Amino acid sequence: MQTKEQLLKKLRPLGQTQLLTFWDELDSEQQQSLSLQIEEIDFDELNALFEHRNDPPASAAMADRAKEPVSFRLSDTREQILPLDDRLYKDYQYNPNEAIAAGEKALRNGKLAIVVVAGGQGTRLDFHHAKGIFPIGPVSGVSLFQIHIERIRAMSKKYGARIPFCIQTSPATHQETIDYFRANHNFGLAEEDVLIFCQSTMPSVDWNDGKVLLAAKDRIARSPDGHGGMLFAINSPQPDSPIPTVAEKGILAELIRRQKEEIFYFQVDNPVIDICSPEFIGYHLLSGSEFSSQVIRKQHPQDRVGNMVLVDGKLNVIEYCDLPDEAAQRRKPDGSLEIWAGSIAVHMMNIDFLRRKASYSSSLPFHIAKKKVPYVVLDPTLKNENGIPLYGSVLKPKTPNAIKYEKFIFDLLPQAKNPIVIEVDIQTCFAPLKNHPDQPTDNPQTVRKQLCDLYRLWLNNIGIRVADNVLVEISPLFANSAKELKQQLEKRSMIPDSGVIEQSVYWQ
Ligand code: UTP
Repeated sequence: MQTKEQLLKKLRPLGQTQLLTFWDELDSEQQQSLSLQIEEIDFDELNALFEHRNDPPASAAMADRAKEPVSFRLSDTREQILPLDDRLYKDYQYNPNEAIAAGEKALRNGKLAIVVVAGGQGTRLDFHHAKGIFPIGPVSGVSLFQIHIERIRAMSKKYGARIPFCIQTSPATHQETIDYFRANHNFGLAEEDVLIFCQSTMPSVDWNDGKVLLAAKDRIARSPDGHGGMLFAINSPQPDSPIPTVAEKGILAELIRRQKEEIFYFQVDNPVIDICSPEFIGYHLLSGSEFSSQVIRKQHPQDRVGNMVLVDGKLNVIEYCDLPDEAAQRRKPDGSLEIWAGSIAVHMMNIDFLRRKASYSSSLPFHIAKKKVPYVVLDPTLKNENGIPLYGSVLKPKTPNAIKYEKFIFDLLPQAKNPIVIEVDIQTCFAPLKNHPDQPTDNPQTVRKQLCDLYRLWLNNIGIRVADNVLVEISPLFANSAKELKQQLEKRSMIPDSGVIEQSVYWQ
């Protein structure tokens, strides 16, 4: 441990002595902890990032040259019961039936692993737990994690193969996620197929002066380093993992040891996602792509999704906040948006590609996010509404006050060979849980409705109507597509005589 004098000597030229404001009040254990936290910070990197905070993001400069990406549409095989008609897809580069066959073969041969990123702080939802624990089942109240795991178990059973499920957490959600999985016996997944790994963090700094914030008198404010932190987290030892290779070398080494070749990647907050869609996997494999992405057709120019674009022949994502209005509004001759492809953060990634990229921290740049970060007040003049000084207490700001530095996984796109873009249907494939119930969109009510609507559609497609205001929920273990639903209902003689479902149901 360094002494106060040694730390001051280091921090003074960096303008960061505020970190020692409460040093003399701390006991020796707290001092030791704070000293270690300070030693871990790469201040040169932090200062350089802060100096460049107002530089326009590289992607913004691309907007003028941005064109729509070449893409094709995923067939709605999960929703339909009829086999695909090849003739409808004659203009496609690859026939969807070929793609499905290629995807199914990879699944059957056990070449797939799944990564879900669940290390975010979920500040907009304001849930105060790991977001994956949020009860989203419209009838059952099951959590996001449970729905995902049941989809994985359904795919694993269908294709007779083990599919390891890797879950990215961050220090804020790590232990809680481990405890939750343990308490629920991994919702039926085999112990060795649950690989929980923790991403890294970055110090949060004051938006105005770049000074590192304190979360407590003895603790530096840190936040997870973005979903892109996954690239480095999967290549780092995870000492608390019960799986020896993961503990010593990391997730990538374990997946390579198990001869996995591709990763299906998604975000924890989308419960309608078609996990391991064979057709999507198949297009990725047939095109020799190292990084493939699902997109939806944007409904409005300023929709809050990353914009998938082609710039000088390379695929890139321009974040919605970096897309100038003029570019967002550009229209094609038929009146539709030119920049229409919104990324929904569902990707296929080649493991060898990730292995090559994970060795270089420069593979992914940091982005700047202006966020609300609670901090210890250091200004002796600051008082609350009752005139009581706030000095030394933790303040939860009402407006964004800090910079969080984050890496985004989609920055790998332009570095990948043969990346492809696949359009999916927004209604059946994308229902992100982002916001607090008092917000109008992407909130628990809208997400639950979209889940019900998906099952309603499956039922409609097999000739069963659901009465208005009736909720239907179907566990993926009961049926994971319209076709499976028809088989199940017939097998169990559960088709209502009237052809109408009159009461809310949860089939599991
Ligand atoms: P968001 O950027 O939507 O963040 O993350 P969030 O944490 O869910 O919510 P806010 O912005 O604080 O309100 C998209 C996905 O990426 C994961 C999240 O868990 C979510 O699944 N993520 C985000 C990480 O795994 N790590 C991060 O550092 C950030």
